Amino acid sequence: MSRDGMLIRRISANEVDVFRRIRLEALQTEPSSFASRYEDWVDLPVEEWRQRLLDPVFVAFSRDEPVGIIGLLRQSPSKMAHRATLVMVYLRASFRGTGLAKDLLDAVVDFARGQGILQLELAVSAENPGAIGFYLREGFSEVGRIPGGLLDGGREIDDILMARRLII
Ligand SMILES: CC(C)(COP(=O)(O)OP(=O)(O)OC[C@H]1O[C@@H](n2cnc3c(N)ncnc32)[C@H](O)[C@@H]1OP(=O)(O)O)[C@@H](O)C(=O)NCCC(=O)NCCS
Repeated sequence: MSRDGMLIRRISANEVDVFRRIRLEALQTEPSSFASRYEDWVDLPVEEWRQRLLDPVFVAFSRDEPVGIIGLLRQSPSKMAHRATLVMVYLRASFRGTGLAKDLLDAVVDFARGQGILQLELAVSAENPGAIGFYLREGFSEVGRIPGGLLDGGREIDDILMARRLII
């Protein structure tokens, strides 16, 4: 996808710098939105970052600068390989509400369909109404809830599980 200086594409295992920049920005600016902490990722060796890029990671660029990211983790057991989980979903605040998050998600959905994936799933904090609103609008529905799924600063927060069927 390319529009007004925006570009969305899958990044390769050689693009650790891009991945590192946008992932660390996400963890630093939205610490309550993710299950990982900035401290968990900031000191990872380059090889570890590269390994994590073996699974598909899509990035939205604004004039060559990474501003959004979504990763896709496919289930490996053969009877579950039609399912994949969205991870690391993030868009820089100044680009929110523009439709770019939908464009980024659409790129991942197109890719997933091309891989024969029939269902996308994700987990989101029950205290993240903005993301939940986005997912509901994009065709996800709540399929479950893990009570106290996240433990943050000694406080338990429910994790909401969502799923979206992909019509081929
Ligand atoms: C999740 C994210 C990528 C969505 O991108 P976005 O540009 O904000 O999404 P949009 O503006 O297209 O859609 C958000 C929807 O939620 C709604 N929404 C926003 N804030 C809301 C709130 N506090 N309560 C209820 N709904 C809300 C908006 O109204 C919008 O729906 P609408 O267009 O039908 O009105 C982005 O908000 C983000 O990066 N958030 C921080 C990181 C994060 O939470 N990641 C998810 C981890 S699971």
